Amino acid sequence: MKIIPHKETIDILKQEFAIDLKNGNSVLDIGCNFPKLLFDLHHNFNFKECIGVDKRNTYGLDRIGTCEEIDAIIENKENNGELTSGEIFNINAFAGDEKNWLYEYCYKNICKYQYNVNPHQKEIFQNIFSLNFDTKIEDFLKNLDQKFDLIVCSKVLSHLDFNIDPIDILKIIISKLNKNGLIIFRDNDESWKEGAQIKQPFDTKKLLDEIDLIFDYGPFKEENVNKTHILFAGRKK
Ligand SMILES: C[S@@+](CC[C@H](N)C(=O)[O-])C[C@H]1O[C@@H](n2cnc3c(N)ncnc32)[C@H](O)[C@@H]1O
Repeated sequence: MKIIPHKETIDILKQEFAIDLKNGNSVLDIGCNFPKLLFDLHHNFNFKECIGVDKRNTYGLDRIGTCEEIDAIIENKENNGELTSGEIFNINAFAGDEKNWLYEYCYKNICKYQYNVNPHQKEIFQNIFSLNFDTKIEDFLKNLDQKFDLIVCSKVLSHLDFNIDPIDILKIIISKLNKNGLIIFRDNDESWKEGAQIKQPFDTKKLLDEIDLIFDYGPFKEENVNKTHILFAGRKK
């Protein structure tokens, strides 16, 4: 299988699927962590319904790096005079409340993209983004009767407990695609040894034999610091 260099998911989607995704309405990011990818997807492809799920609670998310990054962008915009004083006032109004940090930074992200959120910022935000933290995907999927134009499943299924078969979960995930919906999948292959973080590396051949997809991209092996991921994007047969 061809080995390709690692690329961010958003870059693959922009480079390979920009035309297809322009008409997308709904996206599900499984194991979304801090939901930056959903913000990027909303911004780049105008997804109107962006749903994320992650078992971490908001305090467990990778907050520091991401928040600093967003702060730097906002600061840069302020220095270049791109934000109006009203926008700066609104950003500052949300600052300082530790409990609201997620909302605060999500809101900043929307400002970064110059989305017009004033004066009903929170309501508009909540109409677009539905973020299910503290939620295991295996439970989330049981109650999910919605289908999606795009599903992102990146580096999460290999973290499932041993009593859950990741390939069974992947099949359920694929069943949640709309007709012509696209799934982009990345995870650790057999080059990953079992470790504290990684519970079940994939047997690539078994995975590819068992799922029913037409591949638009890959399957590839993707470089990841002396190890490889399985990476592909595809649609339901
Ligand atoms: C390695 S990170 C990947 C984050 C992101 N998807 C990416 O590609 O960079 C794995 C994420 O999956 C989440 N996760 C692990 N097991 C999960 C489960 N059973 N249900 C929901 N989220 C889970 C973790 O909390 C973490 O945020």
